[in-house]
Amino acid sequence: MSSITIIGTGNMARAIGTLAIAGGNAVEVMGRDQAKADGLAEALGATAGEWGAVPAGDIVITALLHDAVVPAVIAYGDALAGKVVVDISNPFNATFDGLAHSEETSVAQKVAEVAPGGADVVKAFNTIFRNVLENGRPDVFIAADSAQAKASVKEFVEGIGLRPLDVGGLAMAHWLEGMGLVTVGLAGNGVGHWDFALGVDEFERSGGEQV
Ligand SMILES: NC(=O)c1ccc[n+]([C@@H]2O[C@H](COP(=O)([O-])OP(=O)(O)OC[C@H]3O[C@@H](n4cnc5c(N)ncnc54)[C@H](OP(=O)(O)O)[C@@H]3O)[C@@H](O)[C@H]2O)c1
Repeated sequence: MSSITIIGTGNMARAIGTLAIAGGNAVEVMGRDQAKADGLAEALGATAGEWGAVPAGDIVITALLHDAVVPAVIAYGDALAGKVVVDISNPFNATFDGLAHSEETSVAQKVAEVAPGGADVVKAFNTIFRNVLENGRPDVFIAADSAQAKASVKEFVEGIGLRPLDVGGLAMAHWLEGMGLVTVGLAGNGVGHWDFALGVDEFERSGGEQV
């Protein structure tokens, strides 16, 4: 069991919160609108915390619009010291055909730049549509520099019945954001609907050179 604080009260907060409660985790919800945090907490069977206070959870999931994540982490400041901060955002541009950054970075890497000492940042969940979290068992790609933070998020993900897949260090968060973009592109084109997720299929090993 993990202790989770979700900062945010929207669709992803509800979807992840529902899975977290069903998995037997302790869940706290925080939002800039206290009435929304109270309402979501009550609906989930979670507790509500106050925006900016020290989160009760060891894992803090920022379920906020992408441009609100870094400001929220700055606003929380030392309240996040020692926490594992999980960024789930997709910083899409206005036309959904590129990322909002002008350089090769990610929201997660920007969070790591402003997070207090002792906080570790993990990118996860961004490639999965909310409706898939509600109905399916998708793979959850994870990027982080801290092995310990990665291990605690992996444990949480497994505890809610999903498969965590480590893609490497936090710099890979940029490419996970690209995967988010690819997923939207598939929804609008080749797949043609939103009820799917990118995942990994493994095949019989050929006996050739392996990585
Ligand atoms: N929906 C999906 O299928 C999906 C899938 C993967 C990843 N994501 C990512 O998950 C994140 C949340 O998505 P969502 O679908 O849950 O969005 P949402 O339903 O619109 O919820 C957004 C949340 O962000 C809060 N927020 C917005 N601006 C804020 C600000 N300036 N300061 C503080 N809080 C602010 C909102 O609070 P108020 O209600 O007070 O405005 C709300 O709680 C996004 O970054 C998105 O890219 C979404």
